[in-house]
Amino acid sequence: MSLLYEGKAKRIFSTGENDVLRVEYKDEVTAGNGAKKDLIEGKGRLNNQITSHIFNYLKAKGGKSHFIEQISETEQLVQSVEIIPLEVVVRNIAAGSITKRLGFEKGHEFDEPLVEFFYKKDDLNDPLITEDHIKLLHLAEDNEINSLKEAAKDVNAVLVQLMDEMNLRLVDFKIEFGRTNDGQILLADEISPDTCRIWDKDSDTNFDKDVYREDRGSIIETYQTFLNKLEAL
Ligand code: TMP
Repeated sequence: MSLLYEGKAKRIFSTGENDVLRVEYKDEVTAGNGAKKDLIEGKGRLNNQITSHIFNYLKAKGGKSHFIEQISETEQLVQSVEIIPLEVVVRNIAAGSITKRLGFEKGHEFDEPLVEFFYKKDDLNDPLITEDHIKLLHLAEDNEINSLKEAAKDVNAVLVQLMDEMNLRLVDFKIEFGRTNDGQILLADEISPDTCRIWDKDSDTNFDKDVYREDRGSIIETYQTFLNKLEAL
């Protein structure tokens, strides 16, 4: 099975089956577009298990994604899609880049979930882009942009509820979408503590990559505790 693509956190392989790919989650951890980088044993296993759990949960709630099944501790099978080079970020509470960009206090609760688009382009440092930019770059049509926003809000609603049951607050997260051979748009990539901000409701503990970004402890312990909470539901 040949390696088709290697990113910062995953490797993608072909399989014998048409339109089915194998994703292997790596132990590499990066932050700030690769400015901070480490190999942390066990990270790939945890993100594969957490993403598999969350995609299965979304499926049970009627949400479609590229996810087919988890096949080992670090691997899953997914449907092949062409990734749309957009990071779709949903924010419920201000944290991270929006506090610096627009001056919101960290922890400010938004009246409505906010959807933002970032252009996935490493050499430009993944800039925030407008809907007109998306059309100008021919990344998606008007109706597709609306579908992405609605799909992102639907994922948010399901995940906010899930986290609530775990006594956690879903602050924000990033998702990606892809197009299938027949032009259908599907949720893709991963949903894990690497791609979300998740805060405990009763303490200032967080269960996400900010622990690594801000050198605040072990991400293995943090992600394992999060997985235990997920599996205990
Ligand atoms: P931000 O506050 O840095 O814009 O990030 C918002 C959310 O998106 C946060 O949960 C982290 C996630 N994210 C990624 O998963 N990958 C990225 O490349 C970026 C910029 C953010």
